[in-house]
Amino acid sequence: MSRFLRSSLGADFGYTPGEQPTDDGGWLKLNSNESPLPPSSTVAAAVAEAAAELARYPSPVAEPLRSALARLHVVEPEQVFVANGADQVLDCCFRAYASPGDTVVRTEPGYSLLPILAALFSVRDEPVALHPDGSLPPGFAVRPAVLRVVVNPNSPTGHWIPPAALEARLWEASGIVAIDEAYCDFAPASCVPLLPAHPNWLVIRTLSKSHALAGLRVGYALGDHALIADLNAVRDSYPVDRCAIAGAMAALEDRAHHRLIVSTVIRERARLSDRLAGLEWRVEPSQANFVFASPPPGITAAAVATRLREARILVRHFTVPGLDAFLRITVGDARATDRVLAAVSALNG
Ligand SMILES: Cc1ncc(COP(=O)(O)O)c(C=O)c1O
Repeated sequence: MSRFLRSSLGADFGYTPGEQPTDDGGWLKLNSNESPLPPSSTVAAAVAEAAAELARYPSPVAEPLRSALARLHVVEPEQVFVANGADQVLDCCFRAYASPGDTVVRTEPGYSLLPILAALFSVRDEPVALHPDGSLPPGFAVRPAVLRVVVNPNSPTGHWIPPAALEARLWEASGIVAIDEAYCDFAPASCVPLLPAHPNWLVIRTLSKSHALAGLRVGYALGDHALIADLNAVRDSYPVDRCAIAGAMAALEDRAHHRLIVSTVIRERARLSDRLAGLEWRVEPSQANFVFASPPPGITAAAVATRLREARILVRHFTVPGLDAFLRITVGDARATDRVLAAVSALNG
């Protein structure tokens, strides 16, 4: 980094993504919560067709995708904001609502991008510790803040708060409440039906997980017309490119493939969780597309991550106190589960 970088950011500033191997040497990549299945077979053709029009700018509000998402969630198109992934939607929430010196409240543990955005926007980052079962403490709602972000199901734990419980806790929250539902399709219910009662809520979703489009970069927010107008006021000129709009439309239309991705993950999540528990691992209940689990005494999570890497299996180990005893393992397909379980069983041998 150069000496010109804002000194407030610190020397090793930046989001650390899961390792992305550059060789194709048989890696099993379970470190970024990507889909175990490829996207719908209709996506590639839709992207290729859109590529013929690349001389023209796309729709600044990502039409016709915005209207397709509105139909899906039974809201009006003006209640949908589409951007370059859920990460950029979160970034736009900071752009729209957080001035330097303001307070943004988030949960701990929670999504590791949020403190980075707080530093980037020079806002006061106030983490609130979740209860061990993943529920929200009362303090989360009452602390003064311009923006509070809750991830549900949470990452990296996989814990899920039922919408009614979340609503009971957040009823009196001031400022904007952003509910990041990146993993919601793997959980029993969404907060979207609660939006009409909460004009200060935004629900954030992504096509990266349950539609297998992490590489295309499409995320969106749903909320009151006025909030969506705020996000549009601060967005990039054209946040979603033509290929992404077309590919996302194709993926949304293939409902059967979406259901297959979700059902595969839910089935394998149960199998992976049960088998790890049977091997004396502590496994947190997950409603997401990953499992957060701690190996039994005798071997550390860091050592397991290293051994799995030697077997060309990548999982996520966070070196943060409180999380460092656990591994976050993305749920793969049946063969991936078998391979992880075989590698973990071999640790005992
Ligand atoms: C909680 C959470 N929100 C948002 C994202 C990013 O989603 P996108 O790929 O749409 O930027 C992730 C990615 O892993 C995530 O874990």
